[in-house]
Amino acid sequence: MDSSKIREEFLRFFEKRGHKIVPSSSLLPSDPSVLFTTAGMQQFKPYFLGEKSPYGNKAASCQKCFRTSDIEEVGDERHLTFFEMLGNFSFGGYGKEEAIKLAKEFLDSINIKIDYVTVFAGDQDVPKDEESAEIWEGLGFSEKKGTLKFCGREDNFWGPTGEEGPCGPTTEIYSQGIEIWNLVFNQFYCHKNKSLTKLETFGVDTGMGFERLAKVSQNVPTIFETDLFSTILKEIPGTDEKARRIIADHIKAAVFLISEGIIPSNVERGYILRRILRRAIRYGNVLPPTSHNLIDLAGKVVEMYKDVYPELKSSEANILDVIQKEEEKFEKTLGEGLKQFGKGLDAFELYTTYGFPIELTLELAKEKGIKIDVEGFNKKFKEHQEISRAGAEKKFKGGLADAGEKTVKYHTANHLLLAALRQILGPEIYQKGSNITAERLRFDFNYPQKLNEEQIGKIENLVNQRIKDDIAIEMIEMSKDEALKIAKISFDPAKYGETVKVYKIGDFSIELCGGPHVQRTGELGHFKITKEESSGAGIRRLRAVLE
Ligand code: ALA
Repeated sequence: MDSSKIREEFLRFFEKRGHKIVPSSSLLPSDPSVLFTTAGMQQFKPYFLGEKSPYGNKAASCQKCFRTSDIEEVGDERHLTFFEMLGNFSFGGYGKEEAIKLAKEFLDSINIKIDYVTVFAGDQDVPKDEESAEIWEGLGFSEKKGTLKFCGREDNFWGPTGEEGPCGPTTEIYSQGIEIWNLVFNQFYCHKNKSLTKLETFGVDTGMGFERLAKVSQNVPTIFETDLFSTILKEIPGTDEKARRIIADHIKAAVFLISEGIIPSNVERGYILRRILRRAIRYGNVLPPTSHNLIDLAGKVVEMYKDVYPELKSSEANILDVIQKEEEKFEKTLGEGLKQFGKGLDAFELYTTYGFPIELTLELAKEKGIKIDVEGFNKKFKEHQEISRAGAEKKFKGGLADAGEKTVKYHTANHLLLAALRQILGPEIYQKGSNITAERLRFDFNYPQKLNEEQIGKIENLVNQRIKDDIAIEMIEMSKDEALKIAKISFDPAKYGETVKVYKIGDFSIELCGGPHVQRTGELGHFKITKEESSGAGIRRLRAVLE
């Protein structure tokens, strides 16, 4: 069955059975503790926790997802960064029996044979899922036949996304040797300290990998032979299978990320986009020189997905433009960088002079069996950072000398402003620069056009609301790894020392920062934006005062 038909059949199946069809949410989630949307349930998180769902108690969706954990694995037979997830969800609408029966019935309806299923075996915190096992047994599955298996936490327990949230035991469905569908029973809330409490509403969260389902339905050896990839791969001739797959996956992901307003940069999401684009460009170099053109491939991706995700068509010109610019920028230095790499140039030089993300250098080194001095890279990177920071601190001290208290207030206002911009203009906003004196705050950020009065009003109101809420500012020292999981920071881990400070303003803002800050937002007074202007291509500048 072709993939668009499968998508359609899935949604219709669940719609007929009382589920509200909900469009995919953005790839950039509102939960500040996660960088990208990685599962269909994310947009429904509050409804698992008792908040009233505007969709009723049953929903289904086809969600676009992006996972960064496997970037380096892409190129083998089964890993992807961008994928779609089909899912049905219930917030107190049904239990295990209906969830399992619906899944079986849907797979039967499109002629997919289940090889076997797995069920949670239980551990010291959560009991064995006897109920699910009995339901499957009722449908003809059994341990004796090898069609029902019990597995532990590692395999059959899912969640939460981010720092805390709903989670629970799962039952998973395998077909043609691969896991295709994960049915999660959200019975617990996992707290930050990892302890579990029982949820009041019984939740069902299921996720079926769309590309995997297409592979099974189309009966092809790998996901790359399905129609979700063959259209793009056809345009990438050559014999290096790994390179072709990397290019196909990364260009798809890049198109979707750019359609959401992300542009390549050296921080956060922009850095991830830069990494995958540069990786695609680099792998393009191992194929025959005329074999493909990234811009044409991006156009193919838009064509392929535009009916399901209309935002691709409306932002097509921008998508192609961003890819072309990044390609031009990197192509200029790529050849020379590769040559220098061959001569043994160090990773730091490759980063600063030739724009090689450290991950790319490490990958090249691995292929060639060369060892890279990562520690040396980190050390130089830190020094580099400290030199720029010393400059920044000088300016800051200048401010402190005549009015320390004032500049500290502006510093906290700076965090509130960034969080407000993200909430009002979109999560892809990042800080390009900031300058604080005792009199005012100047703040640069990425945004393609002039802000209108209404946007400025909303931003001011939101900052003032948080000031009025008089939120206590928390400073938490943690390991870099922990911070990377929760804070909005530069995504280049090499930039930071092993222990970092994170400043948290309630649930509104969480940033990696050296401080200092005021104790409570209530100390700031009234926040007012006095000027909005351009500060370069795609960069806006705001000036603001505290009155
Ligand atoms: N949320 C579950 C998953 O991502 C279904 O596997």
